[in-house]
Amino acid sequence: MSRLQAEHLYKVFGRRPEDAVRRLEAGASREELRAEGTTAAVIDASIEVDEGQIFVVMGLSGSGKSTLLRMLNGLLEPTAGTVRIDGQDLTSLSDKELRAVRSRKISMVFQHFALFPHRSVLENAAYGLEVQGVPRAERERRATEALELTGLKGWEKSWPDELSGGMQQRVGLARALATDADLLLMDESFSALDPLIRRDMQDQLLELQKTLKKTIVFITHDLNEAMRLGDRIAVMRDGRIVQTGSAEDILVRPANDYVASFIQDVDRSRVLTAGAVMAEVGTVLGGRTPEGGTLGTAAEFRAAAPATVDVDTPLVELFTPCSASSVPVAVTDDTGAVIGAVPAERLLAVLGEPAEQGAEQAPATAPGVPAQPGVKTLAKTAKTDGGTTEAAAGTDDEPGDDDPEGKVIAGA
Ligand SMILES: Nc1ncnc2c1ncn2[C@@H]1O[C@H](COP(=O)(O)OP(=O)(O)OP(=O)(O)O)[C@@H](O)[C@H]1O
Ligand SMILES: [Mg+2]
Repeated sequence: MSRLQAEHLYKVFGRRPEDAVRRLEAGASREELRAEGTTAAVIDASIEVDEGQIFVVMGLSGSGKSTLLRMLNGLLEPTAGTVRIDGQDLTSLSDKELRAVRSRKISMVFQHFALFPHRSVLENAAYGLEVQGVPRAERERRATEALELTGLKGWEKSWPDELSGGMQQRVGLARALATDADLLLMDESFSALDPLIRRDMQDQLLELQKTLKKTIVFITHDLNEAMRLGDRIAVMRDGRIVQTGSAEDILVRPANDYVASFIQDVDRSRVLTAGAVMAEVGTVLGGRTPEGGTLGTAAEFRAAAPATVDVDTPLVELFTPCSASSVPVAVTDDTGAVIGAVPAERLLAVLGEPAEQGAEQAPATAPGVPAQPGVKTLAKTAKTDGGTTEAAAGTDDEPGDDDPEGKVIAGA
């Protein structure tokens, strides 16, 4: 079921925003408006996020990601379009009702999570619950659990400045997890962390997600992070969503030149999976092994294959077995049944293949073999960047959101 839905969202900053929307609808460009001093931050954006999904919004700085996210939780009112959470139209709610939805259903984790320096780690993690009016004993119990989930057991009584940047970020995540809110909006939440800690946080989020099954909108401008975390990814450019799809869709079928150039540095071998490139088992059967054995049945193929991997295995793990034998690698489904084969030629072809812009059919997929989703794989590197503290920048501080008192310890 779709938990979060945005339809034809626009946000225009500047004079006469509604006029600007009409002009955009009629084909005016963002540049024309900008020349007149109006910023079209988000233009005609539609997304749909299913229950339990990690939906990543990716784009360069200024592409409109944060503005989109702030409309999703009602912090910013759209100039046009609708946002629905569990079918409820946010724009139809009174301020009070909106606050209730936000405190009950939504948690936000910012780029530099703002912790209160004079509160303990436990009190910081319990802050969201405190705002909701949850009694002390219960909020401490839930915050303790959340800290344990994020690997901070034993640090409850410490002060924020005794924690590393990564640990402080974990407190932020714990604060979001401690509340019952199962819609998590994360704006560049890991961007301030150094690469190893960032990887660690990504792992932890994926691990937590296996049991918690929150619905997450995750903003990043790091493509590898997007590919690693996203069940679905929306690519934004200049206020517009230019493509939405799985990591594989975007990698194998980029919608335009922009997306194609964006993804050219992605390590395809770590994003594409055996399931996405495999050929049908039938293409192997009838052949022979180098030793002269027959490959008449799936069982014979399996026995002769240099390795048997599941559909989610990243291609990078197939190089060694593929080079060891002329028999293809066998691919199995969740039940362990052999459902496909990856021959060495195919592996090389897929990795050598430039992404075909706007291609109808996945060039990497065998005819008749549906591409398998499941690309929760390894990203090679993660970039770090600078950036200002969200709360310190004064953009989102509002009681119940982040740091109303403005006492901020920056993340890293
Ligand atoms: N309150 C505001 N008033 C005027 N313009 C704004 C406002 N907020 C955002 N903008 C403009 O809207 C555009 C999109 O900004 P936004 O912060 O959504 O981008 P972003 O993709 O989150 O960028 P970054 O990766 O740098 O965080 C930018 O041109 C920005 O200058
Ligand atoms: Mg932003």
